[in-house]
Amino acid sequence: MSVDEDSITELAVQRWATAHSPRLGELMTALVRHLHAFAREVRLSEDEWAAAIEWPTAAGQTCDDKRQELILTSDVLGLSMLVVQLNNRFSLRATPATVLGPFHIDGSPTAPYGFDMSDGIEGTPLFITGKVTDTEGTPLPGAVLDVWQADADGAYEAQIPEIDEARLRAKYRAREDGTYCIRTIAPRGYAIPMDGPVGDLVRRTDISHFRPAHVHFLLHEPGHRRLVTHLFQEGSAHLASDVVFGTKDALIVRFAERPAGAAPDGTAVDVPHLHAEFDFVLQPG
Ligand code: BEZ
Ligand code: FE
Repeated sequence: MSVDEDSITELAVQRWATAHSPRLGELMTALVRHLHAFAREVRLSEDEWAAAIEWPTAAGQTCDDKRQELILTSDVLGLSMLVVQLNNRFSLRATPATVLGPFHIDGSPTAPYGFDMSDGIEGTPLFITGKVTDTEGTPLPGAVLDVWQADADGAYEAQIPEIDEARLRAKYRAREDGTYCIRTIAPRGYAIPMDGPVGDLVRRTDISHFRPAHVHFLLHEPGHRRLVTHLFQEGSAHLASDVVFGTKDALIVRFAERPAGAAPDGTAVDVPHLHAEFDFVLQPG
């Protein structure tokens, strides 16, 4: 049988339709159709095809146990956020999900109410307080809030090779009435890693490579959907141009300026500080 420009797609689809799992067959045949349609639409040249092979090869070679250039690729293409949207269709009353990002580290230490997870790292003290409830407003005592963030220079623990203990990350639990209190330092907006293939590509566009200032949260409570989200600082630069499309209006919070004196958890704080209030609402399921 002779293969030509018109018959190749259907031949490749039929071949991949022999996948042993129905879902793999569905994924692979759709992938073949979309890739072929892409090549036809842009009339892909042989040089462009060669570049399209070289680029992910280089991206893969950039990866190690701390660096994931392929997730970053998915993030800047908007694919990660699309997958979040498709898989987290919560009620409008629930706190929306956003991207996990590459800097979450499993096994953060547990921390009591009001614990200072900044542990002396320089920055403006920030208290984040509120409640964890379900969509009916019922408090969820014991719900876990796994929190992580960048420091005041925009660096995550995972980006600092010499660190071997938890830095700016901790797991808090909601109290009996659902309330929680996190003490940390104000995060800064930061640039995604620009020294690899993603950076090379982004630099050839007008795309801003920054994320607005945010704190990451992963909430768990049995009987409820896992919630991966962020809180963004109101007024932060880059809210409208987040390079990974992660910003949502419902997640933008005022970091109110407070004078030295009483902290939100009733302890004393001897310098001016910031206070953000946010109630997390988990989707049952
Ligand atoms: C982050 O928020 O940590 C992040 C997310 C996507 C790409 C880079 C960083
Ligand atoms: Fe982040």
